[in-house]
Amino acid sequence: LEAAAVAAFSAATSPAALEEARIEFLGAKSGKLKDAQKGLGQVAKEDKPGAGKRFNEAKQAIEAAFEKASADLKAREEVAPSGPLPDPTLPGRRVRLGRLHPLSQTIDELKDIMGRLGFSVADGPEIEDDYHNFEALNIPLEHPARDPLDNFYLSVATQSGPVAAPTASPLLLRSQTSTVQIRVMENRQPPIRIISLGRVYRPDAADATHYPMFHQMEGLLIDTSVTMADLKSVLRLFAVSYLGPEVQIRFRPSFFPFTEPSVEVDMKWGERWMEFGGAGMVDPNVLRAVGYDPEKVSGFAFGLGIERLCMRRHGVTDIREFYKNDIRFLQQF
Ligand code: PHE
Repeated sequence: LEAAAVAAFSAATSPAALEEARIEFLGAKSGKLKDAQKGLGQVAKEDKPGAGKRFNEAKQAIEAAFEKASADLKAREEVAPSGPLPDPTLPGRRVRLGRLHPLSQTIDELKDIMGRLGFSVADGPEIEDDYHNFEALNIPLEHPARDPLDNFYLSVATQSGPVAAPTASPLLLRSQTSTVQIRVMENRQPPIRIISLGRVYRPDAADATHYPMFHQMEGLLIDTSVTMADLKSVLRLFAVSYLGPEVQIRFRPSFFPFTEPSVEVDMKWGERWMEFGGAGMVDPNVLRAVGYDPEKVSGFAFGLGIERLCMRRHGVTDIREFYKNDIRFLQQF
């Protein structure tokens, strides 16, 4: 009996077959082991102890064989599940691929366009010191642009409240990418032809056209005998490349401490003129601050709002959409 049970258990290749074998040998009502137990009653008295012992051994061996067969079956199930095979003709589950944020896509495209115009990419830190954000850009100490209400100055928490960070030059989140002009000129000699794209921070309340963090593209070209005409040509080529051949560009007189003369840059695409940023010829004071000789070199700089460019091109009407991370908005790009 024992040998038959062990053979039946190990021959079972499915849970159903094993269960059938279990009932045949170990079934509580009419299993073969139960029958054998009943048979013990007919054994002669003097043979009883031996037969009982033999029965118990067989019972244990059969039960152990069942446990082993059951464990083996489970292990095999895990390696190669039985059950219905996958149907290869069913439509697949759609894989949702991520994509680049519209602003990242815009930044890549702007780099590409400006790269074709000969501008390479430079980077600067988002935490800046007062020197690079203001002083070297010809923004004097008493200038309203330095107002703590218009800038995110960094402070250190102390028991008696926040105090300015203990650095020689106060630190702030840069309010403009013009800081990178200074960093590049400090480290290189003309000719220079760079763009820098990145985040800038200003404590503005968020509305459809303002956000306390946004992106700018700064451009800087320094060489001998650079003129306003070069500035306008570069910006026009850029605008046409990004918005299309029908775009028009115009300059309005303006003021920035670091350019002289300074202009606001407007573009017309469709019906409306829209301002995209500022530009001008680099102020001689700025050239001197980085050790250049304004008698020998000159250049232009510009700063354009990247959100604005992207919004204009794609018809986005609220800058806050870029920062909500609503997949329905992001999926459209
Ligand atoms: N930095 C200026 C701004 O943030 C833009 C600008 C850049 C103007 C370069 C002139 C030259 O508004």
